[in-house]
Amino acid sequence: MISQQQIAQIATQVHTPCWIYDADSIRRQISRLRQFDVIRFAQKACSNTHLLRLMREQGVMVDSVSLGEIERALVAGFNPGDAGHSPIVFTADLLDTATIARVVELNIPVNCGSPQMLQQLGAAHPGHPVWLRINPGFGHGHSRKTNTGGEQSKHGIWHEHLTECLQIIQQTGLKLIGLHMHIGSGVDYAHLQSVCEAMTQQVRYVRKFGLDIDAISVGGGLSIPYRVGEEDVDTEHYFQIWDAARQQIEKMLGHSVHMEIEPGRFLVAQSGLLVSELRAQKQVGSNFFALVDAGFNDLARPAMYGSFHRISAHAPDGTPRAGALRPTVVAGPLCESGDVFTQEEGGEVVSQDLPVCEIGDLLVFHDAGAYGASMSSNYNSRPLIPEILVDGEHIKKIRRRQTVQELIALELD
Ligand code: LLP
Repeated sequence: MISQQQIAQIATQVHTPCWIYDADSIRRQISRLRQFDVIRFAQKACSNTHLLRLMREQGVMVDSVSLGEIERALVAGFNPGDAGHSPIVFTADLLDTATIARVVELNIPVNCGSPQMLQQLGAAHPGHPVWLRINPGFGHGHSRKTNTGGEQSKHGIWHEHLTECLQIIQQTGLKLIGLHMHIGSGVDYAHLQSVCEAMTQQVRYVRKFGLDIDAISVGGGLSIPYRVGEEDVDTEHYFQIWDAARQQIEKMLGHSVHMEIEPGRFLVAQSGLLVSELRAQKQVGSNFFALVDAGFNDLARPAMYGSFHRISAHAPDGTPRAGALRPTVVAGPLCESGDVFTQEEGGEVVSQDLPVCEIGDLLVFHDAGAYGASMSSNYNSRPLIPEILVDGEHIKKIRRRQTVQELIALELD
């Protein structure tokens, strides 16, 4: 747990806004998924190399979705040459020349989401290891934008096109490792049984075709309780449902199959805080606005999906503000009216009950470790903000604040 004193100390040292992560929280979440053979962190959720290193030390492997994410994994010490299950997998729906060259050079397995990827990779490097990411025909997400299955999703190989892809694999001599399904971020458990059945069915087709697999990946999508009182995932139950499907698959294939899980949010969301400072307050008609120095260029989720992040208010020394609660709309400094942290999907402004605060207080956004820093931008020419890792008593700056000069430098060559 990051203490109130640590929040205040860090805010004083590196100034606001800043991200703070709790190492213990990440380790705790990892330990809840230990039953899976491989925990493969979807690093798009939070790709700081220091956090990737922390996960590697816990035996976690990594999924990369861009050349940049591959390089991050290498910097964090993941070695594609290590024996056993591949430390790095590359997942995408398309390939470019530079990425093909890099994955071939490093022998990084590619989780393919289109027939073209298979063709291009097969032409470049027969024998290259591949996964097939299958879109089972349905999906689910916490928002339309995070649903990665069904006809409206660009992701994965449409389930009816598996045979065509297996033919390409055979013709080009690619090596099939396994099948992968990720139907969305913020999965509801009503769909779980259907995904398991779809996976089993697809493996049956692979078998019928005359090919084999060593592994299945159940994808990510596990959520966390963002709101007080929301239920946490029963990871034991989740594992058991998938393990039953795995056993059925093993029976069908006549050998053991290892099972990967690919969480992003679940491992890092609860570890992360975004710390901001209250800079202005004003009454606008019926709405009371609190304006802080963080914007949606830092934390994009509320503006992008209407996502909820619990906000707490602290005096500059970290002491929580207590006393009368006031419905408060919390907004940022950006020159755009959608820069509001308390809003519904679609942009309707809502409020959170916050205690009466003073200018200079710290407003802290909770559960911001996933898709927080990794989705930040330089909008309004605002530099990226620092990231700090707290490990017990130990406080470490794991990314410094970007400077305005660095931001402009790209244009001066
Ligand atoms: N595997 C694949 C292939 C994915 O596309 C994703 C997420 C994951 C795993 C990890 O999903 P998770 O366990 O984190 O739900 N920016 C959105 C989430 C986008 C997720 C994109 N893909 C948000 O802030 O909620």
